[in-house]
Amino acid sequence: MPRRAHLHCPTSRRVVRGDAGTLRGGRSGTPCAAPRASHAGVPTDRLPDHGIDVARARAETPGCEDVVHLDHAGASLPPRAVVDAQVDWLRAEARTGGYALAAARADELEAAYDEVAALLGAHRDEVALVENATFAWHQAFWSLDLRPGDRVLTAGVEYATGLVSMLQARARRGVVVEVLPDDESGALSLDALARALDDDRAGPVGLVAVTHVPTNGGLVNPAEEIGRLTRAAGVPYLLDACQSVGQMPVDVEAIGCDLLSATGRKFLRGPRGTGFLYVRRSLLERTEPAPLEPAFLDLLGAELVAPDRYELRPDARRFESWESNLAARVGLRAAVAHARGWGLEAIGRRVAAVAEALRERLRAVPGVTVRDKGERRSGIVTFTHDDVLADALRRAAADAGVNVTVSNPSSTIVDATRRRLPPLVRASVHYLTTEEELDRLVEVVAASGRSAR
Ligand SMILES: Cc1ncc(COP(=O)(O)O)c(C=O)c1O
Repeated sequence: MPRRAHLHCPTSRRVVRGDAGTLRGGRSGTPCAAPRASHAGVPTDRLPDHGIDVARARAETPGCEDVVHLDHAGASLPPRAVVDAQVDWLRAEARTGGYALAAARADELEAAYDEVAALLGAHRDEVALVENATFAWHQAFWSLDLRPGDRVLTAGVEYATGLVSMLQARARRGVVVEVLPDDESGALSLDALARALDDDRAGPVGLVAVTHVPTNGGLVNPAEEIGRLTRAAGVPYLLDACQSVGQMPVDVEAIGCDLLSATGRKFLRGPRGTGFLYVRRSLLERTEPAPLEPAFLDLLGAELVAPDRYELRPDARRFESWESNLAARVGLRAAVAHARGWGLEAIGRRVAAVAEALRERLRAVPGVTVRDKGERRSGIVTFTHDDVLADALRRAAADAGVNVTVSNPSSTIVDATRRRLPPLVRASVHYLTTEEELDRLVEVVAASGRSAR
């Protein structure tokens, strides 16, 4: 028997058993029909579905029966199709042998490239499938052969790993790292970027590397406007789309990025240990000043054509490793197909609406400060409580069956320093998140605050 979530109906105070997103009242099995009292000042109506069949989405997600998952920015709950694809592959591998299965079902593996390419508006030759977003980002960054004096322009919300690598490149290669200011909304200042790109006396710009949606809040950086500026300046543009892919449309042509890194396990709802890199064809075909060569190259990425000479693969797979987890890869394909099945526009609208509803509810709780910046916001909601530390709130939520995480200042250190941020509670919603789940978290936060006073 699958375990059922015991969700708490916030208005009637009855404990109800949840299945597939429809809350059912007590023994009679009727929907929880008590009029939804204005909950901490929030309108009483249900959240807009924006064309998403939330009940179906939840029925297709086994984890919805067990937990209130508000950590889609950490690792989402996969749909059943993603789990099945992997388990099926693993069972077949066990019966057939790994190499034999890969050969027999090569079409399925190839289809993963088509899915990811379609998701991004790219060509399949421009896609490399790798183990995580960090490896994808590293492969892109270190292939650019930045020289002493080259400037790397980035934003205050850059993820720690990216910033660490930039500092490493500063130490090893003498590049200059410039963290640009924010505009008044908290997004990367486009004026500052335009000025920095224009500033010839400061030295050549070797790269603009920006995080689309940061790990520590709801901000969505203006990726397309940044792309217009980098294109006009003829400067490579690397977009960290780890937290945006899967929760909103991300189209490399519309954005104009040259390189893009992302993961499978977050808003795409794919397996852990999956990620991908997009590389624009013009960069792959580049010969001057040098071909785009990965820092780590193996016999998949390059062919030995003589004992002392190799040739790079023409496509983006030059950035991959030969060995990989193929069960995870077919899982990634299923996850991307699943997301595309809903439609990224619809997902984006629903996620934005759910996240805004959560912010509104949290703002009404005494002692809570919502910390999200930006005019356009994502499904990541961060907040603090005057009287309760973030980790204590996370633990209280976990005790109530609600998954949230804590975003520590070191993961986005420039932004955290600029805004003097303490550790933040991070609740990240998705299209399958329900109003009742938001209520559950808000009740935990409110109750923790009351008992701390
Ligand atoms: C903005 C951002 N970039 C990159 C990463 C790294 O992704 P991965 O853990 O898949 O390497 C994360 C992980 O949380 C992230 O939030």
